[in-house]
Amino acid sequence: MSSLSARSLSSSPTSLPNVDLQPGRPPILRVEATGDAERWASEHRNALRAFVAEHGSLLVRGLGLRVAAETEAVFRQLGSLMTEREAFAPRQRYAQGVYSASKWPPNQHMCMHHELSYAVELPSLMLFACLLAPAGGGETPVDNDIGASVAEAFGADDRRAVESYCRANAIQFEWQPNGELRTWQRRSAVVRHPRTGQRCWFNQIAFLNEWTMDPEVREYLVDTYGEDGLPFNTRFGNGDPIGADVIQLIDEVYEQNTVRERWQSGDLFLVDNVRTAHGRESFEGPREVLVAMADAVHLADCPSTIDVTGG
Ligand SMILES: [Fe+2]
Repeated sequence: MSSLSARSLSSSPTSLPNVDLQPGRPPILRVEATGDAERWASEHRNALRAFVAEHGSLLVRGLGLRVAAETEAVFRQLGSLMTEREAFAPRQRYAQGVYSASKWPPNQHMCMHHELSYAVELPSLMLFACLLAPAGGGETPVDNDIGASVAEAFGADDRRAVESYCRANAIQFEWQPNGELRTWQRRSAVVRHPRTGQRCWFNQIAFLNEWTMDPEVREYLVDTYGEDGLPFNTRFGNGDPIGADVIQLIDEVYEQNTVRERWQSGDLFLVDNVRTAHGRESFEGPREVLVAMADAVHLADCPSTIDVTGG
């Protein structure tokens, strides 16, 4: 274990020596709280960003983040925050661009995914802060490499506003007789990293697929809404269904490459969203993790292997 005081780091703004790199865990930088986390973040922004570009993620421990306003200030020093669109699960909004973790049942593991990998404008950086660590579980694992309403997903429930958003973002849509909206997006499973050009697995094939659901839930939904009426699903680019065996294989590969660290209250976690997937383990007790999506890049800046279309 190594630790590094904030003061000694500030003399070296472009590199982060003494980051703790251990197999099975994300890289961890231990710092001493200075009482001014915002200033620390501003002084170390470049070094933190450079490290995350090279290693995919970095957990900063010791800043002692406790309240949302301070966390927002730290996030704003580290990246340009985005307003979330096309969410698949609702979040509570703390401030412009700062959200709670997705509302997902605590007792269920959240499958690995890249945030907004189905959107044409996506965050290149994810910022997490743990204000309150749960009593048990609840890690945000990272990989080395339900349902939201229309208003929650698009930030508007005016039909014309939603339709123009869909047209502008390569989303095919169809209003259902009951007023619900169905959408289709055809996206590439592999894209090039906007900064390094590295080929990256970047999608939510497994997370949003029918075979990731609890089998009883899937059976109930198929019985109720039909094969084509599930709240969300993923398919091959030609529309063929993806078999359970493929989803199982993807999940196995994620598991083999996943690193995790138990949250401690006050932690800050930076994740490169294009090269590194993240998830969430089940947990017990209260848990407060804030999230921001930062530094938007356009899908055109991440060259893909297929044409991006709506359906
Ligand atoms: Fe996420």
